[in-house]
Amino acid sequence: MCGIFGLVGQEKGLVSKLMAGLSKVEYRGYDSAGICISRPEGLDLKRAEGILDNLKQIVGDMEDGYCGIAHTRWATHGPPTEENAHPHCDPQFRVAVVHNGIIENEVQLRQILIEATSNTCFKSETDTELVAHVLAQEVDAECGDAIPDDEQLLAAWRRSLDRFDGSFSLAAVVKGREDVILVARSFSPLILALNDAGYLASDVSCLIGMVKDVFFIEDGDWGLLRKDGMELFDSEGEPVVRESTTLQWNEEDAELGGWPTFMLKEINEQPGVFRSCLQGRLSRDALRGVKISFKPDLVRIIACGTAFHAGLMARHYIEELSGIPCIVDHAHEFRYGTPSGPKALVLGISQSGETADTLAGLMAAQERGYPTLSIVNVESSTIARQSDSILTIRAGPEIGVASTKAFTGQVLGGLLVALRLGRLSNKVRSEELAVINNAARRFPNAMERLLASSQLEKGLKRARRLFHNQDHAFFLGRNSSYPIALEGALKLKEISYIHAEGYAGGELKHGPLALIVDGTPVVVISSDGIIQQKLFGNAREVAARGARVIMIAVEGDEEASAHADVVITVPKTHRLLQPIMHNVVCQLLAYHVAIDRDCDVDRPRNLAKSVTVE
Ligand code: F6R
Repeated sequence: MCGIFGLVGQEKGLVSKLMAGLSKVEYRGYDSAGICISRPEGLDLKRAEGILDNLKQIVGDMEDGYCGIAHTRWATHGPPTEENAHPHCDPQFRVAVVHNGIIENEVQLRQILIEATSNTCFKSETDTELVAHVLAQEVDAECGDAIPDDEQLLAAWRRSLDRFDGSFSLAAVVKGREDVILVARSFSPLILALNDAGYLASDVSCLIGMVKDVFFIEDGDWGLLRKDGMELFDSEGEPVVRESTTLQWNEEDAELGGWPTFMLKEINEQPGVFRSCLQGRLSRDALRGVKISFKPDLVRIIACGTAFHAGLMARHYIEELSGIPCIVDHAHEFRYGTPSGPKALVLGISQSGETADTLAGLMAAQERGYPTLSIVNVESSTIARQSDSILTIRAGPEIGVASTKAFTGQVLGGLLVALRLGRLSNKVRSEELAVINNAARRFPNAMERLLASSQLEKGLKRARRLFHNQDHAFFLGRNSSYPIALEGALKLKEISYIHAEGYAGGELKHGPLALIVDGTPVVVISSDGIIQQKLFGNAREVAARGARVIMIAVEGDEEASAHADVVITVPKTHRLLQPIMHNVVCQLLAYHVAIDRDCDVDRPRNLAKSVTVE
């Protein structure tokens, strides 16, 4: 979850370039940040609690050097204080380390270090500081006070890494060796690149605009990064060469480009995401690029958070279009369970492609012999590389911590998988494909119309007022609008900090109705046919108990206003696509309610993009 960035061989502007890199990776953690510059005279460390701007204020007069490492933190060990911010050093300031992940044998290591050296003193509560102590000890064992040569450095690094259990990506600088950064990766992403300098980062979006090609090092890889090369070894200590990959995203994709926040930018990018996700894949009579070679007896979807909600949408599509039963699990529940089903296809869904639980779930499935397919956004991510096949959603970099445009892509990905399974099951005929294709062609324009409509603006203005001074809110859906209710509630709670729950309308009387009091905002995500009437019934039930109802309905639904305080309408589209349109309103509602409450929507408290630790 933390962001790591490092540079070696950058003779001019090292500090400002490190800060520029960090600002691109800040979405991975923003409770504290720090940088360490390695110069011949020693290590220069600056750290600050809070967002990156706090660090910026104290690095202004920092001298450049030849090599440096930098970090934005999402706390796992110890509170977000300056002392716990990375980089961490040994007591003699011989090495400095940045880390993403968790050292699981921390307690034992701490004990061993304390017993071994009477003057061991720890300045932080982090597991990372132990890495610095261990590495310094091993360097000392190799060469005493002398400056270690390459061989000694590598030996010390290898022995250090052998002492750590858990998941980590690590970068370390050693006093006197400004020409190299030590790197290691174990179940946590780390990317290297070469250009005018040697680069390392926890995230490709950090490197966009700085390099063209990147090296995805593998789990177990470790070694040295230099200005013009790298020396890497695998977990057995054998030298390895990793292939480079060309970055697909450009700099503008990862910038605000005039928008006040990434979240608003990304919400508005959804028509484009929809178009590019379908391009070349769906046409009147054909479906391309979804690689499933057999008809499974069961589909098991695994994902977390917003991607899990996209998985619930995919289940509707799969069961309806192919008749194949489908189970959706949170990846963290699945990974410790015992997946069953003789011919199951395991479908992972992940925007980042780095979510630790989803990755572990997919690996657990592979160990049991199940084929895996993943719907991902980051094509070069670990999940993409681990899966047997992938379907990329082509959403471009998603920087806002709250996932928005990725959800649209993931739901569409789920629809494409369902259509492929429907074809394999002989349940989706060409005529149906043509109808869906026609609707999908028109969909992005309709979404653009919605995003630009004054009706939406006015509706949101009225709706957001209903959230003033409210601590709880509810979202109701049924059938395919139920996942949207869950997603709407998640968006609201994570960025506005209002407690929000999504419920299937039918569940209301089984408990949640007790929570409705005078003024409670309830968002009802409409559906169609009989389901719509049932939702109207739910709206009446909550209104009778004092709730203020916001109904998201389709244009032309004359009846909706009879059951709501505020109705926001969206263009009517194909039944299967309609929930995606409804979801845009939920995203914008959450956004504006959060802005009204002065919340930092791109950096919600306690959260970070890309959950790379369990
Ligand atoms: C919510 C959100 C998270 C992610 C979840 C999975 O807005 O962003 O719930 O959806 O952490 O992340 P990915 O899709 O990267 O696996």
